[in-house]
Amino acid sequence: MAGRIPQYFIDDLVARADIVDVVGSAVKLKKSGRNWHGLCPFHNEKTPSFTVSQDKQFYHCFGCGAHGNAIGFLMEHDGLGYVEAIEDLAKQMGMDIPRDENPVEAKKRQAAKKSAETLELATQFYRNSLQVAEGHQRAQAYLQHRGLKPETVERFGIGYAPDDWELLKKYLVGQNISEKEQISLGLLVQKEETGRTYDRFRNRIMFPIRDWRGKVIAFGGRVLGDEKPKYLNSPETPVFQKGKELYGLYEAKTSPGQLERLLVVEGYMDVVALAEAGIPYAVATLGTSATSEHMERLFKVVPEVVFCFDGDKAGERAAQRALENVLPHMIDGRQARFMFLPEGQDPDSLVRANGKNLFEQRIVRADSLSEYLFRFLQQGLNPQEPEGKALLTQKAMPFFQKIPKGILRTLLIKKLAELVGVNDSDLQGQIESRPEPVVREPVQSQPADIIPEYAAETEIQADSEPEVKLSTSYAYKLLVWMVRCPDVCQALSADEHQQLKAIIDENKGFFWGKVFDQVLEYLKCTPGVTTSSLQAHWYGTETGRLLDQIALEEVLAEEFIVSEFKEWLRSLELKRREYQHDQRFDELTRKSRSGQKLTKNENEELVMLLNLLAKKKSQPEGDDAEVSQ
Ligand code: UTP
Ligand code: MN
Repeated sequence: MAGRIPQYFIDDLVARADIVDVVGSAVKLKKSGRNWHGLCPFHNEKTPSFTVSQDKQFYHCFGCGAHGNAIGFLMEHDGLGYVEAIEDLAKQMGMDIPRDENPVEAKKRQAAKKSAETLELATQFYRNSLQVAEGHQRAQAYLQHRGLKPETVERFGIGYAPDDWELLKKYLVGQNISEKEQISLGLLVQKEETGRTYDRFRNRIMFPIRDWRGKVIAFGGRVLGDEKPKYLNSPETPVFQKGKELYGLYEAKTSPGQLERLLVVEGYMDVVALAEAGIPYAVATLGTSATSEHMERLFKVVPEVVFCFDGDKAGERAAQRALENVLPHMIDGRQARFMFLPEGQDPDSLVRANGKNLFEQRIVRADSLSEYLFRFLQQGLNPQEPEGKALLTQKAMPFFQKIPKGILRTLLIKKLAELVGVNDSDLQGQIESRPEPVVREPVQSQPADIIPEYAAETEIQADSEPEVKLSTSYAYKLLVWMVRCPDVCQALSADEHQQLKAIIDENKGFFWGKVFDQVLEYLKCTPGVTTSSLQAHWYGTETGRLLDQIALEEVLAEEFIVSEFKEWLRSLELKRREYQHDQRFDELTRKSRSGQKLTKNENEELVMLLNLLAKKKSQPEGDDAEVSQ
């Protein structure tokens, strides 16, 4: 998509944008005193604990702790990535984003622009064909037969690919779009043997798949009859990755009224038929079960997600996968529910048969996560017998461990304890003491007088490649995760990006620290990067050799990496701040002791640091209080 956005521009943007306007467009705010107040959009509340400070250009919720600046708000509230939020804010402010870009990046951005234009032209072509192309009457009749009114067809941009081998190709070539471009976007197919090219989608109803800002990134096409395959989808392209996108998300987000929940269904037609029936909050995964990335996306938009499954074996399996993938995302305040349809029905057929109200009643009655989890865990065992109880506990452990620490996890453990008749603190103890797949709060468990990131660093030599040094540092682990799951970069908030940058800067003295910096910069301006594309980019260099080693290291399962990365980042950041405070405190006290006079500002700073240190001392995790020697 883009070259780097220069920091000065971001600073300028944040300085010019007024957070009260940004937040105010989503939250009803009232001024009282110096600040503005309203109901927090990040958790359910009846009395306002959400404040926006115009002076500080910050929002903060005293209820749930949400806080940040204007960019952070757009990221959290609108579910945007860092760059997306900047783009959005710049657009609101009518500012053009300058790009620090080298010729390679500039070329990439041009290419992305061209792709977007091409896909938009194709969308218009299909929509127009639904009105005028040969065979359009049959397509119209099909849509009508499926119960879709013209407004719904319009809203989803549904069109028709004519029954012809090269109508789209000719049209696009006429618009100066090369065949190569069309092939790369999956619109045109090239026969390997002959090199002949032809339109991929022919005689199909066309469903455009849109990204978060409504740009078309791919298509799904359905046959009008019983031919196979029933649905044909765009292949994965530089702008389209199936495991990330949700059909209908843009339409749901932009539907009138407040979105309270999202319903995840299987098919294009389910989404469209539900919208037609007055349920505009359905989205569909694209032929995969809901991935961890989908979960992130969904929960960024709403706090409640209902998964809808067919009542058959396949539906049950899909539900289990969704359950496993959603657990790591269940921070307190979020809700996931599971809904099973009668066998042989799908949301489209049900809502058409029974109407909106009965369908929504099903949604309301859907199983809570805990109901479904326990039902699933108890399958095939007898919880009345001691053996069954033991088995149940054993089966439950890995599931519980996936849930972030919090009230939900505690309550589930309690419920299990009641069910098997043991003391819940015993069970809690067992779960905490088991070797977790996910390591939490690593830094806190360090001896207090060692600050490995900033004071002493151990570097060990790798056996195979003597010139490449591996590190035992905690920050190094972040590099490993970033290389193994480059998408983690997209999942970071503005604050987290800054924290990460600071941590990297402090480790630039190490070889891996420099590599970390290079990788982060690269990821910032290159979408869709994988571990192997990183290896390829630095192939044959010393950096490349470190990346090769990282690619072989044992790491967490991919679905944990993002949450774990954030957790470690937070811990490291706390340590880093503490260390900085201590350093500064020492510096100021030294200056003062040596007889130099402190300035007014320095005096104030010293008081602030003293307060911080006092606070830390009074905190229960006492061993940390000894840090300042
Ligand atoms: P279904 O076969 O359940 O179809 O596929 P459906 O959604 O009920 O479709 P209609 O009602 O007959 O039109 C569910 C989803 O699986 C993917 C599509 O995303 C589809 O919406 N799929 C299915 C394919 O990608 N290709 C296929 O050939 C079939
Ligand atoms: Mn169907």
